[in-house]
Amino acid sequence: MTTPSSPARPTRILVTGGAGFIGSHYVRTLLGPADPGDVAVTVLDKLTYAGNPANLDAVGDHPGFAFVKGDICDAELVDELLARHDEVVHFAAESHVDRSIDGGAEFVRTNVVGTHTLVDAAHRAGIRTFVHVSTDEVYGSVDSGSWPETDPLRPNSPYAASKASSDLIALAYHRTHGLDVRVTRCSNNYGHHQFPEKVIPLFVTNLLDGRKVPLYGDGGNIRDWLHIDDHVQGIELVRTKGRAGEVYNIGGGTELSNKELTALLLEACGAGWDTSVEYVADRKGHDRRYSVDCAKIRTELGYEPRKDFATGLAETVTWYRENRAWWEALKERVAP
Ligand SMILES: NC(=O)c1ccc[n+]([C@@H]2O[C@H](COP(=O)([O-])OP(=O)(O)OC[C@H]3O[C@@H](n4cnc5c(N)ncnc54)[C@H](O)[C@@H]3O)[C@@H](O)[C@H]2O)c1
Repeated sequence: MTTPSSPARPTRILVTGGAGFIGSHYVRTLLGPADPGDVAVTVLDKLTYAGNPANLDAVGDHPGFAFVKGDICDAELVDELLARHDEVVHFAAESHVDRSIDGGAEFVRTNVVGTHTLVDAAHRAGIRTFVHVSTDEVYGSVDSGSWPETDPLRPNSPYAASKASSDLIALAYHRTHGLDVRVTRCSNNYGHHQFPEKVIPLFVTNLLDGRKVPLYGDGGNIRDWLHIDDHVQGIELVRTKGRAGEVYNIGGGTELSNKELTALLLEACGAGWDTSVEYVADRKGHDRRYSVDCAKIRTELGYEPRKDFATGLAETVTWYRENRAWWEALKERVAP
């Protein structure tokens, strides 16, 4: 029982992939200036090419923060960690579609085997809530309308297929063992600290360096854009108020073709179309359009995206302009 002399223990959350783009923003938000002290966070991250300890510098000295370098496929380590945590928020994944087209093995290992390792350990450890962060790409491609959570999964890339598999494994642990699993499926995230292989940071950093940007196919592929602040808001609503065994779509409400997005980025960086855009062969099996129906999370949990796209994009471009030291070394590593 809690008394004034024995304050409530903070909820101990294991965040996998917390050194990556979205996971680190989630951790910085939970332990940031508005931290009410109700959670303690351990990040478990393998630090692949996409993981960057610098993303967690802002919370490094927080008394409620711990970092463990390790692999979510390491059953012994995962067992040991879950024995001393209450909840899991699972971001760790191989996340870049183009890499999965070049070779899918690591995607199956981390996204499928790793997720199984975690949910299996979570079930045995009696974890209270397991939030599995997934993607709208599991639904496939849709010409018109939007997918509700009940739509069948028709993933097309090896990345999307590995994420769909992980969703099903996680949900199977709910149905079979009663583990409180909650799945989120979000649209394309954007914001600061995104690895410069993804389209927005790749294009912005190329343009800041006076280089061309590679536009796939006819540039007509459409994506919905979600600011990381809004994604984090959605994940927190699902973690704290969502229901066990449920899937929640999270979207940003801004659909743009890649051509439209490119025009906005050129404008923001003061570059011209003719001198800065290079059309390149389309991505194999490139999904034409993604669109999530967010009615469920809006009505059930009160989710509402707050970041206006024009503002979010301008802030993102400014961040890359002002943080060259963060991205130059990473870019060198993937595309010397
Ligand atoms: N970025 C997006 O637009 C987007 C959209 C929808 C869903 N998602 C999902 O959100 C999650 C986070 O995406 P992100 O963009 O932050 O990814 P990211 O690639 O930036 O980060 C992934 C993190 O996972 C870590 N990791 C990879 N393999 C690991 C392993 N075996 N064990 C432990 N850690 C490992 C990496 O080191 C890295 O820190 C992923 O599950 C992704 O599928 C991302």
